[in-house]
Amino acid sequence: MRPSPILALAAHGGPQAAERLQEIEPQTEPEREALLRASAHVSALPQPAAWRSGPWRPQVLFDVPAGLEHVAAAEAHERGFGRWEQVGEGRLACPDQIDPAQAAAQLRCTRGMLIPGGVGPPLPLDRPDECASAVAALLSASPPLRRWREWLQVDGDVLRFRITLAQQAPRQTHRAVVAAARAACQPLMLQDSPSSYAVELLVETSPASSQLIIRPTGIPDTRFAYRLRDVPAAINPVIAACLARLARTGPGATVLDPTCGSATLLIERALAGEAAALLGFDRSLNAVAAAQANIAAAGLQGRIRVVEADALGRGGWLSCDEVLANLPFGVRTRSDAAGLQRLYEGILARIGQHLRPGGRAVLYTAQRRLMEQALHQHRALLQILDQLRTSSGGLVVHIWVIGRRGGR
Ligand SMILES: C[S@@+](CC[C@H](N)C(=O)[O-])C[C@H]1O[C@@H](n2cnc3c(N)ncnc32)[C@H](O)[C@@H]1O
Repeated sequence: MRPSPILALAAHGGPQAAERLQEIEPQTEPEREALLRASAHVSALPQPAAWRSGPWRPQVLFDVPAGLEHVAAAEAHERGFGRWEQVGEGRLACPDQIDPAQAAAQLRCTRGMLIPGGVGPPLPLDRPDECASAVAALLSASPPLRRWREWLQVDGDVLRFRITLAQQAPRQTHRAVVAAARAACQPLMLQDSPSSYAVELLVETSPASSQLIIRPTGIPDTRFAYRLRDVPAAINPVIAACLARLARTGPGATVLDPTCGSATLLIERALAGEAAALLGFDRSLNAVAAAQANIAAAGLQGRIRVVEADALGRGGWLSCDEVLANLPFGVRTRSDAAGLQRLYEGILARIGQHLRPGGRAVLYTAQRRLMEQALHQHRALLQILDQLRTSSGGLVVHIWVIGRRGGR
């Protein structure tokens, strides 16, 4: 199956589309990505849920962007949620004394909660019946599933779930696992409902063991409700919140985003702490309109200014302390390579001219080679302060933190 029929199913929506999507085994990376997007779309109406604070609570981890765990942990500490340990790639442990619902509502560098549900033997994915029994045993024995009413509240008596196998498996295995999960979960008052659910049950397997992860998806998340309008290739807002923190220099900062799109980075920077002035350019009028709508929805009209302008045009740039840029990658849009090279070099030249000593530029792109070439050209003025890597939408994306030479 190609990505377009997957997306067509998502557009159709409804419980049948959700069930069909659950049966699809993606064969390629674009199919996998399309399936993730489509599943998120059809599950747009979750079973509403609320966190219940009581005497018992399960261990809670938070899903954070891989490679940026230290940024998310620093945010948790700064906002008064204690010290969060990294417990795996893209995973932080929420300390026991912290109310995870409050943390989930306030921390912008996290994607959401993950509850370890139990560990079992590795799953034989090529043997449907054995695999299904092993998953059923994992579900039946899971303390957080058996005790779900102690930490989660839903309307009615039944908690609706969707089950997902993290690794690719034959269709027969999927079917057997879903049927076994239905039977194992029924006594716990959990109902399979892939079109509207409050928890996703994610089963991962490795050569050493299998693991159940419970992802509560029904708890409302309004942190990014300002995102009324999008542009193609808009940055994920959780990653944007991390980048904003990497760029932060201080309350008097002037911040510039020369390819601002729908203004996600500028909005997240405004929400990450005081800044004196925030300015964005984009050469697309559509992007500027999207940015203005989002800025207004975030209540930041007075603080962020966005104008239609070419980042390489005359004027526009001003002396600044922070530059935040999610540069066009040209991967999905197939922009011409020479144009991208000119843009990257031109933006670095302007950073060299306008970034104040002690300032920081945070640049985000999947085009590692192009950025390295451009940085090499400007090495007399600019230095790399840090280099990080994360992933988004199935792509590895690189992050450079740049400063002026001699200006740390
Ligand atoms: C990857 S998108 C940025 C998305 C943005 N971070 C968001 O979340 O919406 C890149 C943006 O750069 C803009 N762009 C491309 N070339 C430009 C140029 N020469 N000057 C200004 N903007 C440019 C595109 O219009 C696009 O909106």
